[in-house]
This record gives sequence, structure tokens and C-alpha cells, in this order.
Amino acid sequence: MRAEITASIMCADLLNLEKDIKALEKAGVDYFHYDIMDGHFVPNMTLGLETICEIQKRVNVRSDFHLLVNNPEEIIPLLDAGENDLVSFHYQATEDIEKCIELIHELGAKAGIVLDVKDSYELLEPYIEKIEFVNLMMITPGFAGQPLVDGMIEKIMETRKWLDSHKKNNIKIMVDGNVNYERARLMHKLGGDILVAGSSSLFKGDMTFEESLKTFAEYTQHKALY
Ligand code: DX5
Ligand code: ZN
Repeated sequence: MRAEITASIMCADLLNLEKDIKALEKAGVDYFHYDIMDGHFVPNMTLGLETICEIQKRVNVRSDFHLLVNNPEEIIPLLDAGENDLVSFHYQATEDIEKCIELIHELGAKAGIVLDVKDSYELLEPYIEKIEFVNLMMITPGFAGQPLVDGMIEKIMETRKWLDSHKKNNIKIMVDGNVNYERARLMHKLGGDILVAGSSSLFKGDMTFEESLKTFAEYTQHKALY
């Protein structure tokens, strides 16, 4: 199965957002990836809940919330997320990971833990019975267009192997940061199921959204060959 593609909305044309979101919906993207930042957990602020709510009213595309905020438990209950949607929060951002997972499940959504580049996948061990996905950061989070951190592609494979060895092949791996087409091929082969498409691909401006998604589909035919 091809990789699913989640469009990083912070990388869209923010002053022509309606045009972009409608075009992405028409092109058939799988999810909209909403990076929500608080200026503290990461030194940036991007999409707010009001803007996201307006987007959700205008298109019928599944939501993928990536919370880059301290104490995500305070914001999770405010999200408009349901059974087809994804919500992930950073391992390092909360004292109460169990609570965050519970709150996401109360919304009916799928829960994911985000691992920063320095976080080992073994940190997931106490939570693997409860989560539906893991979001692996390939970059230092906060800004689009940053370089890939060394060793992150290998981390996708190691995380996949480790999850499979715990009989958790149902837990999906999301890959966030610096996903370009060539790299997507490898990221998917090594175990990445959902790829965040940002300024390195979908919003680069060298292809239409349709062409970009078609290229991703062509490049991500084969899976899990570690
Ligand atoms: C960064 C965000 C990403 C980002 C990835 O913190 O989580 O969604 O937009 O896109 P690139 O790296 O391709 O700009
Ligand atoms: Zn993100």
C-alpha cells in the first residue's frame, strides 16, 4: 500500500488559504497536518484553533493535529477531532502522557506520541498498548524548510523493527520534516506509513498538487523491506 500523505498547512499560501485547501481536497490528499505551536515549547507560532476551525468548515479532509505545545492536555479537549482524525503530542511536553492519550481517545480520535530527534523509540514502551501511531521528527521542530538530522532515516527502520518485535505492526509511523520525493521512497520502504508533505515537496511550487500526490504514490509503492 502506498504511503498516506498529510499536507502541512503551515506551508500553504496563508494569504490564499481557501484556494490551496480546496485544491488539495480536489487533488485527494489524505489528511491536513495542522502544526499548533505556543511560542514556548517551540519558538514559533503558526496556526490557531480559529483558523483551523474555518478550514474544517470549508473542506472535507481528515484532520491530523500535531501539537507542539507545553501541556497538550489543556488543548486536546478544544480540538474538533473525531474517529477518522489523528492527534499527536510531544513526549517531552507533558508530565501526564496517559492523560493525553485518554483525552484524545475521548474525542474518538487516534492518539500518537511525537518523538523529537533525540528521543529514543524505547520511551514508547509503557504506551504501546494505548497508542495508534508514532510521529517521528526528522528535523528540530518549529519551522518548515530545515535540514534533515543525521540518523533519522535509520530511526524509522529501527522504530519499525522495534514495534514489530513487540507485535505492534498495527501502530503506524508518521514521518515529519524534510520529506521530499526521493526520500519518501526510502522512508516508506523502511516503515513510514504517513508522510508529512511540506515545503520540501507539495508546497515547493514545482508541480501541481495533483502531480505531487501522483509522484508520491509512484514513489511509495513498496513497503517494509528492512
Ligand atoms: C515542522 C513541521 C512540519 C514541516 C515539515 O515543525 O512539523 O510540518 O512543515 O515540512 P518541511 O520540512 O518539508 O518544510
Ligand atoms: Zn508537524
